[in-house]
Amino acid sequence: MSGMTTTHAPKGLEGVVATNSKICYIDGDRGVLAYRGIDIHELADHSNFEETCYLLWFGKLPTRRELRQLRERLAEERKLDASVITLLGSAPRHALPMDVLRTAVSALSFYDPQEKNNDRTANVDKAIRLTSQIAMIVAAYDRIRKGKPLVEPDRALSHAANFLLMLNGTHPSATAERALDIALILHADHELNASTFAARVTAATLSDMHSAITSAIGALKGPLHGGANEAVFRILEAIDESGADPVEYVKDMLAQKKKIPGFGHRVYHTEDPRATHLRVMSRDLGNSTGQAKWFEVSSKIEEFVKADKKLNANVDFYSASTYRTLGIDVDLFTPIFAISRISGWAAHVIEQLDDNRLIRPRAEYTGPEYPSHYVAIDQRS
Ligand SMILES: CC(C)(COP(=O)(O)OP(=O)(O)OC[C@H]1O[C@@H](n2cnc3c(N)ncnc32)[C@H](O)[C@@H]1OP(=O)(O)O)[C@@H](O)C(=O)NCCC(=O)NCCS
Repeated sequence: MSGMTTTHAPKGLEGVVATNSKICYIDGDRGVLAYRGIDIHELADHSNFEETCYLLWFGKLPTRRELRQLRERLAEERKLDASVITLLGSAPRHALPMDVLRTAVSALSFYDPQEKNNDRTANVDKAIRLTSQIAMIVAAYDRIRKGKPLVEPDRALSHAANFLLMLNGTHPSATAERALDIALILHADHELNASTFAARVTAATLSDMHSAITSAIGALKGPLHGGANEAVFRILEAIDESGADPVEYVKDMLAQKKKIPGFGHRVYHTEDPRATHLRVMSRDLGNSTGQAKWFEVSSKIEEFVKADKKLNANVDFYSASTYRTLGIDVDLFTPIFAISRISGWAAHVIEQLDDNRLIRPRAEYTGPEYPSHYVAIDQRS
């Protein structure tokens, strides 16, 4: 049978360069991650989420005036159509926040004032709107499912502080606001990760921003991607509840050929630079809130997995204990990843459409020999 493709794709497209991009630089051997050329460590130390959004969407750091304007626009967009609130209220109480978010983001397109417009300006507007709306949806659904009243947004607050206010009903401490702000910076973009690739594939059909982001949220949910932070905490919780020794617990998982969530990475062959920050945040927040146990168990697991399996912690490992010490429920961890990653997804959709071509690779055919002929139903064995 004659071959139909010219190359053999590595499983999972490992090492395949699938596009050009000016957004995110990664050096997996040196553990470097940079947005628009600026190292993630500098951004985590000096920037904030709104400024990082500007950097990702517009390709440069904003002036003071540009940053103020973006902050104002994000704050103005802290509103949800009443029908979206009704939709959140109609979800069954057992619906996972990540699934509700996926459906709600899809529904947002019905009420978007630029729904039919897929040009660059409209897509930047949609990026701003979706960034505000996604945070509001996560906070609102959590309150609805718990039977609590919704909290009005405070347009004077930062994105991180407003989310915590709308989630908890109280103004966050400066420490909690900064911790979430740094976590949002660290999760904002990561080149052609699975959800961003999904977003670009959808955008490249000339569909629309909401469809691309809905595709991305579906991809982020899985435990091999954004869902790993929830899986990490379920292990910490199981160890805490059973009183098991953390190392024995993990050894047992490995003996059962299970992967340890929060470890390993397709691109990094050294420490994930985001884990470096999250480790410190997890430790400091644990100590300052009297919940040091989550960090202590995590670091015992990390020490063992690194020594035994030569695997490094990734972004999800210490984000689990960090979010828990901030008082956030475990099934909100992955939605919080989406609250941040919307910035990167939108930047990639805009970049894709700036120089678009349909993304349509080939599959290496490994099925029955061609031609295999049709057999009438009464002659089949
Ligand atoms: C991130 C991840 C999906 C990358 O996958 P990948 O590049 O396809 O790597 P593979 O799954 O092929 O792993 C390569 C080897 O390392 C092992 N490995 C990778 N991650 C592991 C983990 N977390 N726990 C135990 N073993 C792991 C695999 O079992 C495999 O071993 P083998 O060659 O003996 O079969 C993978 O490391 C993983 O599943 N990690 C846990 C989930 C997670 O934290 N995801 C978030 C990523 S940011």
